[in-house]
Amino acid sequence: MTQSRDSSPDADASGSRIPGFYKLDIAGRRKEIATRAAIDEQEILAAVASGGLDAGTADKLVENVLGTYSLPFGLALNFRINGRDRLVPMVVEEPSVIAAASNAAKMVRAAGGFCAEMVESLMTTQVEVYEVRDPARAVERLESHAAELLALGTRAVPNLVERGGGPRSIDVRDIGQDRVVVHVHVDCRDAMGANLVNSIAEAIGPRVAELSGGTLGLRILTNLCDRRRVRATCRVHAKDLTLAPGPGSEPPRVTPTGAEIVDLIVEASRFAELDPYRAATHNKGIMNGVDAVVLATGNDFRAVEAGAHAYAASSGRYRPLATWRRDGADLVGTLELPLSLGIVGGTLRVHPAARLSLRLLEVTTAGELQEVAASVGLASNLAALRALATEGIQRGHMSLHARSVAAAAGAGDDEVERVAAAIAELGSITLEEAGRQLAKLREER
Ligand code: MEV
Repeated sequence: MTQSRDSSPDADASGSRIPGFYKLDIAGRRKEIATRAAIDEQEILAAVASGGLDAGTADKLVENVLGTYSLPFGLALNFRINGRDRLVPMVVEEPSVIAAASNAAKMVRAAGGFCAEMVESLMTTQVEVYEVRDPARAVERLESHAAELLALGTRAVPNLVERGGGPRSIDVRDIGQDRVVVHVHVDCRDAMGANLVNSIAEAIGPRVAELSGGTLGLRILTNLCDRRRVRATCRVHAKDLTLAPGPGSEPPRVTPTGAEIVDLIVEASRFAELDPYRAATHNKGIMNGVDAVVLATGNDFRAVEAGAHAYAASSGRYRPLATWRRDGADLVGTLELPLSLGIVGGTLRVHPAARLSLRLLEVTTAGELQEVAASVGLASNLAALRALATEGIQRGHMSLHARSVAAAAGAGDDEVERVAAAIAELGSITLEEAGRQLAKLREER
C-alpha cells in the first residue's frame, strides 16, 4: 500500500480499519480498496470479478479441465501485525468467518495488535532406505558424510543457492525394521519449496543408499515441516471482549463482563488441552482463518492442513494449536504451527487473484505471509471461543447463513437482506421459507 499508515490503533482513514466497509455494495468496496491500495480498479475487477481464472489458464494448471469453480473472495479488516496494518484477503465459503476474524482483530488491535515470528524457516525432505543390513553403522556413515550429501544437494538447486537458500543440515533417523531415513533441512527463501526439496532428495538418494548399504526407497518432502514454524501471540484487554459483534451477528442475549469472558475463554482453552475431540474442532476454527489466507494467496492448503494436524499430534496426543491464558486483567493467546507458504512460483504465477492477494497484503517475504496467516488463525480461534463461551455461535452464524439461503431462493441484491431478516426472525432458515418470504415481499411492492 503506497498510502501512509496512521500509527494510532484507532486510525479510521487509513490502514486496515475501514468502518462501514461491509455496508458498501461490491462495486463500492472495490473502489475503496483500489484507492487505499493504489491498485487500478480494472486490475481488481479482472482478478476477482468472475473467479479470476479463465478456463484456458486452468487447462494449463491441471488435467481434463471442464471449467473453473469459484469461491467468495473477501477482505478481513482491522489486522495489525508486528506494528503494521494489513488488509487480509480470505477465500472461504463459510459465512461469518471473515466477519468474525475482523471483529477479533479489532479487539486485538486495541491492545497493540498481533506479534508473529518464524521460529525457524527450514523445509524438510526425506530420503528413505530399507533392507539396511546394519542400521546403526548406516546412521554413523551417513552422519559422517553429511558435508558430502549437503554439497550434492546444493548442486541440485543452483537457482535457490543464487537466491541465498539451499540445504543447511542433515539428520539421520533409524525408524526401525531395518529402515533408515535421512532428513535434509532446506532454506527455501520465498518459495513453498516442494519442488526444490524434492529435487534435493532425488539428487542425494543414490549416494544415501550406497552409504547405508540398503535399498533406496521414497524421496519426498515431509508435510510435517516442524522446522518451518510460525508463532503468533496476542493480548486482549478484558473490556474489549464485550465489543459489539461484527456484521451479521446479533447482540448477545446475556452479557457477561469482560473479566468473565476472559475466564470463559481460558476454560474453553483448557477443554481443548484435555480432550482431543474438542481439540480437533478448536483447531478447525483456527484453520478457518489460516486456510482462507492460504487459498487466497494460491498456496497448497492440503499441505498446510496435513502439517498442522500432524504437528498437533506430534507429542503422541492430539493437542490444540493455540492456547489462551489470563495475564492480569488481559487475555493472552499463543498459536504455533508449521506453515510452508510461498510468494513466488506455482499457482501464484498464473492466478490473478493470488497475485492481487499478495499486492493487497504487501508481504515481501514468505515469512511475512506465514506470520499473517498464523495471526488470522489466532483471530479466528479467539472469535470462535468468545462466541462459544458466551452464547454459542448459532445465532450469529444462522443470520449470516440466512443471506445465502435467501440468495439461493432467488432474492435479488435489493431483496436479500429483507428476506434473510424475515427467515432469521421466524427461526426457519430454509429454502421453502425464503421462497415464501420472497414472494410476500414482491407482492407487497
Ligand atoms: C466452525 O467453522 C468453527 C468452530 O466450530 C470452531 C470451534 O468450535 O472452536 C466454531
